[in-house]
Amino acid sequence: MDTPFQDKHIIHGVTGSIAAYKAADLASKLAQAGAQVEVILTQAALQFVTPLTFQSVTGRRAYVEADLWGSEGHVQHIGLAHQADLLIIAPASANTLAKLAYGLADNLLSLTALAAQCPLMLAPAMDGGMYAHPATQANLETLRQRGAILVGPAEGHLASGLVGPGRMVEPLELLGHVRWVLGKGGPLSGRKVIVTAGGTQEPLDPVRVIANRSSGKQGYAIAQAALDLGAQVTLISGPVSLAVPVGVQPVEVQTAQQMHDAVLGCLPQADALVMAAAVADFRPMSPAENKLKKESGVPEIRLEHTPDILKAVAQAKARLGRPSVTVGFAAESQDLIDNATAKLHDKKLDLIVANDIRATDAGFSADTNRVTLLFADGGVEPLDLMSKEQVAASVMARVSELLQKASA
Ligand code: C5P
Repeated sequence: MDTPFQDKHIIHGVTGSIAAYKAADLASKLAQAGAQVEVILTQAALQFVTPLTFQSVTGRRAYVEADLWGSEGHVQHIGLAHQADLLIIAPASANTLAKLAYGLADNLLSLTALAAQCPLMLAPAMDGGMYAHPATQANLETLRQRGAILVGPAEGHLASGLVGPGRMVEPLELLGHVRWVLGKGGPLSGRKVIVTAGGTQEPLDPVRVIANRSSGKQGYAIAQAALDLGAQVTLISGPVSLAVPVGVQPVEVQTAQQMHDAVLGCLPQADALVMAAAVADFRPMSPAENKLKKESGVPEIRLEHTPDILKAVAQAKARLGRPSVTVGFAAESQDLIDNATAKLHDKKLDLIVANDIRATDAGFSADTNRVTLLFADGGVEPLDLMSKEQVAASVMARVSELLQKASA
């Protein structure tokens, strides 16, 4: 599956901080994600790690100071800098930040940074006192104003024993930031996409809820896929245990009513809405104020309908003209296509993603899904069994096409 990392040229600068050992993990993750990673180590970084560490994880040459004056010399590195899609310096020491702020080009990394025209991402890592120093703060401010993307530092234990800001942000989180930056400028850039995910919970009393089996995986993958195409994404999610993709604006909700209010609140700015959430259809009519006691006997619980969010969206669309594209999901255990087609028309959707929840390799908690896409114009596209990420990419590719048609 193509992600924004695929075949991108990333220069990864590593400077002299103890966090350099974590930089190998970042380089490895970038390479595994499909990027072509060229590592440049400063002289000080070599005190902590070796070029071989990086060559082994990236499968490409790692450059050191000696390469600056080698036979290929300057010219090659200027070429490298011109080709790059991103220059990330992680960890970025106080010394390197100062050089960048002043435009020095006295080593291979600072020279490359000065020649590069791509986005510059910096993950500062240094001791707390050095970070807090007005000189470092002024340098960071200069770099920020010049358009550098600063990620971190994180707070926590520092090598000196201090506790405070100064730690390099963890590789997995940095990977998310890189993905976000690489996705910008995609076909959905400038578009606002709302995604709902997870299941809602309807309270019975202050302790108990009626919930469902939704894991949120498919919805979160949709949010990531929208981000990968450059969209501005708001993710309205029920309670799930998943990491929010970096770059997404998260909105946490619990009940169907809260999800309804959050979705309708976002609509005036939305270009597309993808309702992947498993919203409760019923809720207890009058949740108990206090915890229901076993001793009081078996309670009788009367249920009522929750608001149908997609129907409310269809009504709002008639007034606002937004969102341009609405996508629903149909999780069915029988007559999949007939039921999904009825929902497509009833809820006035542009696309419905139908999945058969009886299959063990698809649906709720599985990592894979087998879905059929049904379009308002009668088009039917059955997709093979694939990962939820692949399903998400397929759905968002169709949403992107529908948006293009809608604005043509
Ligand atoms: O009719 P059903 O609930 O099966 O339809 C599923 C689709 O409708 C999903 O996209 C779901 O997010 C949405 N839905 C909704 N409001 C509800 C229940 C479901 O918008 N109250």
